[in-house]
Amino acid sequence: ITLQPLPHPPRWPLVGNLLQIPRSRMAQYFLDVSRDFDGIFEMDFAGVRIPFAFSAALVEELCDETRFRKVIRPPLSLLRDVVGDGLFTAKSDEAPWGKAHRILMPAFSQRAMKGYFNAMADVAGQLCDYWEAHQGDDLLVADDMTRLTLDTISLAGFDYRFNSFDSRDLHPFLGAMVRVLAANMAKLTRLPMLERLRKDPPDYLADIDTMNHLVDEVIRQRRENPTDSNDLLNLMLTAEDPETGERLDDLNIRQQVLTFLVAGHETTSGLLTFTLYLLLRHPHVLAQAYAEVDRVLPGDTVPDYRHLARLDVIERVLKESLRLWPTAPAFMVAPYKDEVIGGKYRIPRNQGISVHLPALHRDPKVWTDPDVFDIDRFLPENEAKIHPHGYKPFGNGERACIGRQFALTEAKLAVAMILQRFALSDPHDYQLDIKETLTLKPDNFYLRVRRRNERD
Ligand code: HEM
Repeated sequence: ITLQPLPHPPRWPLVGNLLQIPRSRMAQYFLDVSRDFDGIFEMDFAGVRIPFAFSAALVEELCDETRFRKVIRPPLSLLRDVVGDGLFTAKSDEAPWGKAHRILMPAFSQRAMKGYFNAMADVAGQLCDYWEAHQGDDLLVADDMTRLTLDTISLAGFDYRFNSFDSRDLHPFLGAMVRVLAANMAKLTRLPMLERLRKDPPDYLADIDTMNHLVDEVIRQRRENPTDSNDLLNLMLTAEDPETGERLDDLNIRQQVLTFLVAGHETTSGLLTFTLYLLLRHPHVLAQAYAEVDRVLPGDTVPDYRHLARLDVIERVLKESLRLWPTAPAFMVAPYKDEVIGGKYRIPRNQGISVHLPALHRDPKVWTDPDVFDIDRFLPENEAKIHPHGYKPFGNGERACIGRQFALTEAKLAVAMILQRFALSDPHDYQLDIKETLTLKPDNFYLRVRRRNERD
């Protein structure tokens, strides 16, 4: 074989591409860059060179778990300050990941989802009541979706109520979390020599304290009021690893609770915000979704778990939304040993490679008219034909998202309950403006609602 160097955009000595990469829109920038390359390009972060892969053919190789595994590198590694060996940031080949994975898997079975349904419906009902009380007002969608998803994971997983809809301000936990994420993301685009001189901002440690304090409170409440439920928190506190017989230690329980509070809400909140945006942009799809809701949940029918299986238009809307805007936009893998991918690119052992999902989900070899929002791509007969590695919004293999069913169940129910009760409008003709933290979300998107009547 003739090996070739990785293609890359023009770069400068020393700084590489660092000065070109816009800090507040990195994922979108890499998507723009991908349009000039065939499946892979390399970025140079002042000497640290990272390949970005995005064709289904290359991603298929990277998803072969006998050759590659998830690695914890920036930006994920920076989060280890906060969530340590929580499931998301634990190293694949170290004991804490396997142990927590085996202990916590039962909390994400299909049966477990049924158990979470009432908590999900409770919080979605609070959102709808809140919106009903604010008919005609401008509603900042991302904030309300964050209230919904944070309250849902904490109520379903930990039986803890944030009561976010009772307050105009978002919970202090969220402010702290957003600042900590932003401080870590900012580190990515700073020159390494300057980075060494910098200290964390003064409120950084205070913010981490705020987050830990809340988590300790969640755990304390449960220890004082034990239940016999099979929720996430009880598994963490009491279950034994079937393989080693060990339990999670106290520090790890804290890291796991924090992991679920963070991983369990940001991405789903973004998904719901993009979904409402896309529905408003595509009135014919919105009409299909209303027709489905009126068929499955006519009038004031109170949704129950069995209705969810019949909401297939909404399910396709969510899948297509995650195709165009996968809210966790990348994951990183590295090879166990020196590898060649695509028959021509040498990837040295342990070299991190980013799988860039917004670009993968637009691979022209897999998707026709990739930039068009088209929910029919996910009709069963079409979905079966999608390249098995062309769509990865929840990551890959054993390190794929443990909360996938949780997110889809929660989002489906929320969209259905919103459409059942409200007519939606976009009075300011919103132009998509994506805010990036570790995740993607439409920024400053406001909508208005009006209670539907019989004639709608
Ligand atoms: C892992 C996406 C919702 C908990 C992941 C990964 C992705 C992802 C791409 C793999 C990351 C990597 O390889 O580095 C999403 C998206 C969501 C969502 C797009 C919503 C639309 C949730 C929810 C929960 C959750 C609701 C919890 C209830 C986790 C955890 C991991 C994970 C714990 C780490 C799993 C492991 O490595 O063992 N997610 N996620 N996620 N997600 Fe999600």
